Amino acid sequence: MSDFVSSFWGIAISVATILGIVACLALLIISGRTQSSQSSDGSTGHIWDEDLREMNNPLPFWWVGLFLITILFSVGYLVLYPGLGTAAGLLGWSSVKQHTDEGIELEKRIAPLYARFAKLSHEDLIKTPEAMAAGQSIFLNQCAQCHGSDGRGSRGFPNLTDKDWLHGGTAEAITATIKQGRQGMMPPLAAALGDANDVANVAHYVLSLSNSAHDAAKAALGKPKFGVCAACHGANGEGNQALGAPNLSDKIWLHGQGEAAITNIIVNGRVNAMPAQEQKLNEDQIRVITAYVMKLGQ
Ligand code: HEC
Ligand code: HEC
Repeated sequence: MSDFVSSFWGIAISVATILGIVACLALLIISGRTQSSQSSDGSTGHIWDEDLREMNNPLPFWWVGLFLITILFSVGYLVLYPGLGTAAGLLGWSSVKQHTDEGIELEKRIAPLYARFAKLSHEDLIKTPEAMAAGQSIFLNQCAQCHGSDGRGSRGFPNLTDKDWLHGGTAEAITATIKQGRQGMMPPLAAALGDANDVANVAHYVLSLSNSAHDAAKAALGKPKFGVCAACHGANGEGNQALGAPNLSDKIWLHGQGEAAITNIIVNGRVNAMPAQEQKLNEDQIRVITAYVMKLGQ
């Protein structure tokens, strides 16, 4: 019920709430009585600005009635619903329970739909509009904040709509990525290459791999040093999906294009993580979202 470790705050809030209600009631009773001190003309006897008299009329009946109803309502509410410290309320309502119930209700409603999806292969799911609509709704809820609502990603977050895969684009690879998450680890390697000139030369060599604008002389000097990189990115920079090492020979850049971006990643390295979704999505949902990602890549 309560997020507080000690019962102090629960008690303090209950006392303040009850005192508040009692004070409202007391105010109502006291202000109903003041008429006894009235002077003969029905005023309090206070006069301002020569002829402005403060009257002491009783509170209108309808107003007192409304006030009483709000007080009764608050007492009834506190008896039925949780409101007084840690007291649960007679109805046993809680926001957590309501949320869980709604979740169970939703599961029940979509269960038959997913039971139908469970019989279909990934390829057939892609061809089933209801499955792709369910996939899109999962994507917008769980993935879009990082990969963009259209799946095109942004710097550091891969574009899922192209055919360039860091970790593989097969149904198995995508399922594994979504279930267990992935981590891409590019170590800082400037020291292994030598001085700043060596780093610049290798950066130009990397640019030459994809035929991007580069200085050919520097690239030629950088080439022999690329061995350090080839261990992960492959001899020709073609990438290695087993390590999540990107293809450097295409013009698709996860961390930005150009000499500055490449130098930055060589000097500082980069750790990039896709969070595991196993806890958030069930087996059927993972099948549907995998098919949806495959469709994005087509
Ligand atoms: C907190 C941000 C975040 C969320 C949420 C997220 N991802 Fe990712 N995802 C990443 C990052 C970052 C990578 C790249 C990891 C790397 O660099 O190796 C990635 C990689 C991937 C890849 C591999 C791409 C490739 O080229 O191999 C797939 C597929 C993927 N995500 C799908 C999803 C799906 C589907 C969801 C929702 C269920 C999702 N992601 C939710 C951040 C996120
Ligand atoms: C231990 C393996 C490993 C080595 C060695 C390595 N890299 Fe990487 N590199 C990676 C990984 C993994 C990523 C992807 C990081 C991510 O997921 O964000 C990466 C990313 C990059 C990128 C960004 C690519 C893009 O699309 O934006 C560049 C550029 C790069 N590396 C260049 C190099 C160079 C140059 C060397 C050699 C000096 C090198 N790497 C050595 C693993 C490696």
